[in-house]
Amino acid sequence: MLPSSTRSIPDIARIPRHIAIIMDGNGRWAKQRFMPRIMGHQRGVESLRGTVRACRDLGVEYLTVFAFSSENWRRPVDEVSFLMSLFLKMLEREVANLHKNNIRLKIIGDRSRFDEKLQHTMRDAEQLTANNTGLTLTIAANYGGRWDVMHAVQALLHDHPELATSFFEEDLQPYLSMSDAPEPDLFIRTGGEKRISNFMLWQLAYTELYFTDTLWPAFDRKKLEHAIASYQNRERRFGRTSEQLLSGTVQAESGEPHA
Ligand code: IPE
Ligand code: IPE
Ligand code: MG
Repeated sequence: MLPSSTRSIPDIARIPRHIAIIMDGNGRWAKQRFMPRIMGHQRGVESLRGTVRACRDLGVEYLTVFAFSSENWRRPVDEVSFLMSLFLKMLEREVANLHKNNIRLKIIGDRSRFDEKLQHTMRDAEQLTANNTGLTLTIAANYGGRWDVMHAVQALLHDHPELATSFFEEDLQPYLSMSDAPEPDLFIRTGGEKRISNFMLWQLAYTELYFTDTLWPAFDRKKLEHAIASYQNRERRFGRTSEQLLSGTVQAESGEPHA
């Protein structure tokens, strides 16, 4: 099992192993251009493609993106159905390319609300790329951080009813959506809002947060590099003092994959 990043300190000078992004601002990007919101979503897919490529080139190991929240069902029906068909088209169109680039695709969230065809395409895409060893791209769809924790607790207690009165973080960890990945080092939210919007609540406990006014369709490699540079100037303490870190009494993580 992966240790919580709250226990060891990753080397800040390195490229973050795991970047999590809330891709926000598609609608406003379109509106500024007097275009319908859906055009913003379409351009957002281009930004995602560029970001995946940049992460792969930079040596990021995990990229997790918020594509559709459990709250986004509250949007107008037309926009929701456009997003669903865009998601399906994107999977159909991009999966071969992801596979060719050794990228492993994973989807997290409650899939039961998606139509059969989309669920099927998701499964196929994951299966095709399951053994790839390059970047792991995780798409959060009908995902919510609270759902993730609730779902994990339910699954844990289903498997281990004897833990109902007492269990530890380590018991729950394997049941969380991102159990096979280190916790995000860097969180990026585009679009100017400074909130988490129910994304990876558990996993972001000690993640460095970066907010930018850039709208998602305008987010490019340069902006990503800027976010990473900002991350590399932070001091991650995980509850310790600055002096402890400077005195070198705390062992930095080597960056080797966790056992
Ligand atoms: C993010 O962009 C994409 C999704 C939530 C699917 P928005 O659609 O939220 O764009 P804004 O925030 O309205 O500009
Ligand atoms: C968060 O964006 C979800 C995604 C980007 C998929 P929203 O635009 O839905 O977030 P709020 O509603 O402004 O918090
Ligand atoms: Mg938004």
